[in-house]
Formats: sequence, C-alpha cells, structure tokens
Amino acid sequence: MIKIENSLILISTNNTSLILNVDEVKKVNIVYYANKIESLLGAKSLIRTYPYIEGCEVSYDKNHNNISLNRQKNIVSTVGKGDNFSPSLSLKRDDCSVFDFIYDSFTILNEYKLDSLPTPHDYSEVGKLTLKETKLNILLNIYFFVYADCDVIGVSEELINNEEKDILINKISSLQLPLVNEDYELITTFGCWAGELNVQKEKVTRGKKVIESLCGYSSNRHNPSFLIREGNCSFNSGNVYGFNLVYSGNFENSIEMDAFENIRIQLGISSYEFNKVVKQKESFTSPMAVMTYTDSGINSMSFNFHRFVNQHVIEKQFYKRNREIVYNNWEATSFNFTESKIHSLMKKASKLGVELFVLDDGWFSTRNNDTSGLGDWNINTKKLPSGLKGLSDYAKKLNMKFGLWMEPEMVNEDSELYRNHPDYVISDNIHEKSYGRNQLVLDLSKKEVQDYVYKSVFDTLKSADISYLKWDCNRNITDYLNKSGTFFFDYITGLYSVLEKLRKDFPDVLFENCASGGNRFDLGMLSYFAQSWQSDDTDSYQRIYIQEGAGLFYPLSTLSNHVACKVSNQMLRYTYFDTKFNVACFGVLGYELDLDDLSKLDIENIKAQIAYYKEHRDVFQWGRFYTDSFISDRLEKIVQVKNESETIVARYQTIQKPFPKEAHLKAFDLDKNKLYEYTSRKEMIPLKKFGGLINYVSPIHINPEGSIITVISKYKGMDSEVDSGICYGSSLMSTGPVLSQEWSGVGYDERVRFVSDFGARIYLIKEYTNDLHK
Ligand code: GLA
Repeated sequence: MIKIENSLILISTNNTSLILNVDEVKKVNIVYYANKIESLLGAKSLIRTYPYIEGCEVSYDKNHNNISLNRQKNIVSTVGKGDNFSPSLSLKRDDCSVFDFIYDSFTILNEYKLDSLPTPHDYSEVGKLTLKETKLNILLNIYFFVYADCDVIGVSEELINNEEKDILINKISSLQLPLVNEDYELITTFGCWAGELNVQKEKVTRGKKVIESLCGYSSNRHNPSFLIREGNCSFNSGNVYGFNLVYSGNFENSIEMDAFENIRIQLGISSYEFNKVVKQKESFTSPMAVMTYTDSGINSMSFNFHRFVNQHVIEKQFYKRNREIVYNNWEATSFNFTESKIHSLMKKASKLGVELFVLDDGWFSTRNNDTSGLGDWNINTKKLPSGLKGLSDYAKKLNMKFGLWMEPEMVNEDSELYRNHPDYVISDNIHEKSYGRNQLVLDLSKKEVQDYVYKSVFDTLKSADISYLKWDCNRNITDYLNKSGTFFFDYITGLYSVLEKLRKDFPDVLFENCASGGNRFDLGMLSYFAQSWQSDDTDSYQRIYIQEGAGLFYPLSTLSNHVACKVSNQMLRYTYFDTKFNVACFGVLGYELDLDDLSKLDIENIKAQIAYYKEHRDVFQWGRFYTDSFISDRLEKIVQVKNESETIVARYQTIQKPFPKEAHLKAFDLDKNKLYEYTSRKEMIPLKKFGGLINYVSPIHINPEGSIITVISKYKGMDSEVDSGICYGSSLMSTGPVLSQEWSGVGYDERVRFVSDFGARIYLIKEYTNDLHK
C-alpha cells in the first residue's frame, strides 16, 4: 500500500512501513522503517527536527540554520552541501562538482521494468519518487517496488540527463537507508573457493565498513546479502533488518556510523572502474536493492527473504515444482570417462532412485583435462559415440531425465573458438594475459560474443532431450580494458541479455547456477537459475557452515547439495553416508560419487535415503526454515523445516565430547496444545566406525584395519538408535523429549546414540492423530 499525504509518503507491506518525508528545504528523508503503521496519523512525531545546527556543521542554505544535511536522514546523499557521510550518489560535470536533488513528485505506476536488469516479478505496487537537481535539468527517479506478502521493499535509482552537457556517474547506490544505532550487530558472509558463505558477526562501530566484490562477479569473497540486528535480537525475537542486491557483478555495500550514532546503509554496484557517461536525453538505471524488516528475529527475516525469492525472484514455472534428485558424475570421474562408464553410472543411479542424470565437464571437443576444448561445444564422439542424443535416450529408457554441464562464458586458448576469434576474449591488448584454470573469459560486453554464447547454448540444448543445464563460470575477470567506463556492468548486463533469451527459448529446462560453486550466487543469477550449486566442497561438516550462511538469505529450493564419497575430496575428512545425507537433504538433493565403488550396504543405505527424501521432498525443498544458533557459537546446531503436515528437525554436532550432556529434541513453531509424534530416521552405522572395539563382540580377533572388517562392512552395519514417542508441542518447543544416551566410551547397542564427530541425526515430527482414549 502506498499513500501520500502532505509532505509524507507511506509505503507499506503486510507488516512493515517505510515513511518518507519532504522537509522544509524539499529534501527527501527516510524517517521510519519498521513495523507497519496503518495511516499517517501521528507520523510527524517520527521526524526529528533540530532547533539549530551545531558546531562547525554548515546549514543547507542561508534561511535554514536548523538544517544540516549531515544530520538529515537523506534518501540520497551527494557532496558539497554539508553532508559529510560517503555520498550515495557521486556525479561530475566539467563545470560542476556539486549536485543537489530536491523533491519534485511522487507517482504510483501500474508497472515498471528495470532497464536491462532483472526485476523480481509480481510486486503489489510500484511508486516513483522524482527528485530534481535545483539548478540543472537532471532528474533522479527512485522506484519503490512493494512485495507486500513477504515484507520486502525493492529500490532502484534512475538518473536522467536532460542537459546538453554530459554527466559522469562515479557512484550510484541503489538504496540508502539511514538508521540510528541500537547496539547493532552486522552479520555478513565471507569465503573463498570451497569455503563459501561463512558467517561473520561484528558490532557496528563508528567509521565505515564496506563489503564488496571487485572480481567481476558478486563473488565468494562476500555475498551481497547482509543483516543488522539489535543487540538483544535472537533467531526467534527482536529487531532485524535484512538486505540484498538483485545483481551479479561487482558490488559495494556499506554501513557507516558517525559520532552521533547516525547510520547510513548503502547498497549498489561497485564504484570501482565505474564511470558512466550519461549524455543528453540518456538515462542510467541501477540494479534493485531489497530490504526487509521484522521484530521477530533472524528466522523471520530469513522467512521474508525465502518467500521473496521463491515467489518473486525465481521464474514462476519453478515455484513449488518438485526438484529432481540429481546424480552428477564430476567427483566420480572428473574428465576421465567413457560411454560405457557413463552407462554404468546411469544404470546404477536409476536403480538407486535418482531422477536426473547430469553429465558434467569433459563431454565435448578435446576436453580431456582443463587445458583445452573449452568454447567448442561439439560432442566428443570418440568418448561418447552415441552422442548427447544417445545418452539422453539411454537416460530416458532408465526413467531418468538428462542434464548437461556447460561453461559458456569461457574459452581455452587451445580451442577452435580461440584460434578463430582471439578477439572474443577479454584482453587489454597490452599485457600478457592472466589465466584461471587455464582459461580466458569471453567478453560478454560485446554483442557478437553474446550472440556466440547464446547460439552455442541454444544449439546444444536443441541437440538432445536435455532437461537441465549446469551453467558454470570458473574464473574471475582480469585484463579488461574499460573503454566504456562501465565494462563490468556491461559484462553482467550482456550476460543477462543472453540468459533472458535462453530462458524464453527453454522455459522448462531447469538451469542450475554454478561458479566454481558459489562464486556468483546472488539474486540476479536466481532470476534466471532456479537453483544454485553452493560449493565444490562436498564435505558435510563444511556444508553446515555454507548452508547456514546461505540459509539466512536464500531458500532451500535454491540450494543444490550433493552427497559425495565418504572421504571428502576437498577436506579428506571421513564422514559416513547418513551424516552426509542429513546435511544435503536440506535443499535440493543430489549424489556425486562413483557408484561403481558402492558396497551392497552403501546401496541399501542410499536407496533408503532417496526413498525418505522423496517421501518428504516438499518439506525439504519448500518448507519454512528455522535454526537455533550459529554453528561457530555452539557445539551443536539445530535446523528445522516445516510445512502444513510435517516438521523435520536435524541436530548437527561438531566435536564429540566424553561427557555428553543430556540431549533433547527441540522444535520451533508447533501448536502448543497439540500432541505430536516424533521418530528419528533409522541409520546404518558402518562396523568399521567401531575400530578395535569390534573385538569385544567378535568370537575371533579382527584387525580393525584389515580386510575381514572391510569385507564385512560391505554387507553389515549396526542399526542406529530409534528415538520416538509422543509429546506436546509446548514441550517440544521448550525443553523437548529426552533423546537416547549418547555414546561416551562404554557399551553400544540400539539404545545408544552414536553420533560422533561432525555427525547428525534427523527427526520427523507429525501431529499425533491416534485416538488416545481407545
Ligand atoms: C567447477 C564446478 C564443478 C565441476 C567442475 C567441472 O569446479 O564447480 O562442480 O562442474 O567445474 O570442470
């Protein structure tokens, strides 16, 4: 709902309101962003006014010695009129350095689409605030997109130059939100390859904190999403603001606090190498920044963003569409496979219950390692004589869909594409090039390169029955020549234009985003890719961290997680399959290991996991997500998903201690007065896990490292404990039912909970429907 009354503008979602005020010098301020206000009655009381300016501050003009822009809650800040915070908008003209925007109008539009950038769909309303420069014919439109159902407001700015002279934009934030400090803590994520999205918490202090990417993509260094919470805010209560950017390139998000504890939050494209010349009658539009607020804690903030992504960012046809269980051959074979190996994996995957077989890197041209072939998207018929068509038909016969890996933005020098078109790669034509994984980046800021990339993907997808595409991007951008002044922006909008066309051509093909894992995971990519490969790190303990960071801002339907082999390729940590499943099932499940190496017991185990996942797929992919803590703060962590009919709780353990505490099953958001039944998922614990202790029960001595135990372990495991019972919601939400005694060095049978280091358990909770009085 948007209302305009006198100097005030009220923009509301179902539970939040944003209030803008046009002050006495016609500057627009954001004076309120918090819980919903039904009308503007009394809203004047929310506005801080000053009797006079203080100390060495400067007044905005001669007649207003009570207004210093340094203290106002400006919706946009520029330099040169007394505002000493970092500007949200930095412009230049050869005869002018100071730009001063004041209120012009506010209109409600029927619809609006951002120029060459993704616009999350199905907003309830969109309002346009127009500011004008006081002396020059330059306009700044600020668009407010209201996503009422999920309490998200999107903001984008558009600068229009109606002057004859060019203007240069050095910086344009999409959103500036002024707040006053309330003992705020800033929570951002940081990371690297195979270690994405780790949570970082820090107190908001005076000065400026910037999280940004200069890699060319949104990057794994920091995700563009972040939140600030009040000191006493927990996962389930308290004030919290969440932010994100619908953009996939270099970004610059910051939080700045001055002596008076006034805060300005800014989100936008990076000002690094950004020099946009806007000529007469031209305009420039910034990507959308989004924000949400709740007084009900971090889980509610996440819920708002999860709904926003599911209902407004991902394409409509994928909303609530079951995501198939994937098998991907990368960690099993890397580049080294033959058609018969792929056939064998396909047959085994299908028997396990897999629904979509994905052929990863190495299927095309001369691509037998990462030094050649990238860019030439013709099938290697020596390796795969029946071609993509043959493979997709084979998958179909086995009742599976077929998917494919491509890395369309990249090229190896040893390729036909590079030999014919060295001009397609990003290069400054002066320096030696820099290489990432022996590859170069195609210059998607150029139309002819966009056309090549579009055609190569189009032709590939047309060549067989392909239901899924994993679009990879395995190195950052270097060696650019920023002739246009907006090279990085042009690259990303070039990519968006290719994706826009491909999505129209193949609306039912599921595109999975990947950039060496999560090196470009953001709301821009999710606008075209309904799911995203989170990380090349398939170690389940590391995944808990990665999924924790991702889960703060992105819904489970977008997180693609695979169960890989027991000894992690990345961490060399041994974790048994059930734990790997218990982590991977919170999202879109897949498998990525050599199925030819599985024992009979492994096969039974994985079959049971897949059957369990299928039975509860809806809640794993679309359920409401909750957690109780950050894993770095505790020895264990709870995550929960819940839909109307069921709740699944996982308990993740970090390190096992010899003095385990009494453990309880705790859940969130149940009905206090209802009875629930809970059951742990039955697991199989490999005998090898017990080491030399096996000799306490074995009639003959067994070498714990020897071949006998290895052989037995292929056929036999120990059943895990079963924790089940009935319990009131009120109890489950407070102390919770007691779980079985945890293993602490003596006596093992089905009454003992053997979780061990980095272990996990999951529990199903359902309303208890049996009549107790019968
Ligand atoms: C990247 C991806 C992997 C795999 C390889 C193939 O590293 O993240 O999942 O597809 O490329 O080269």
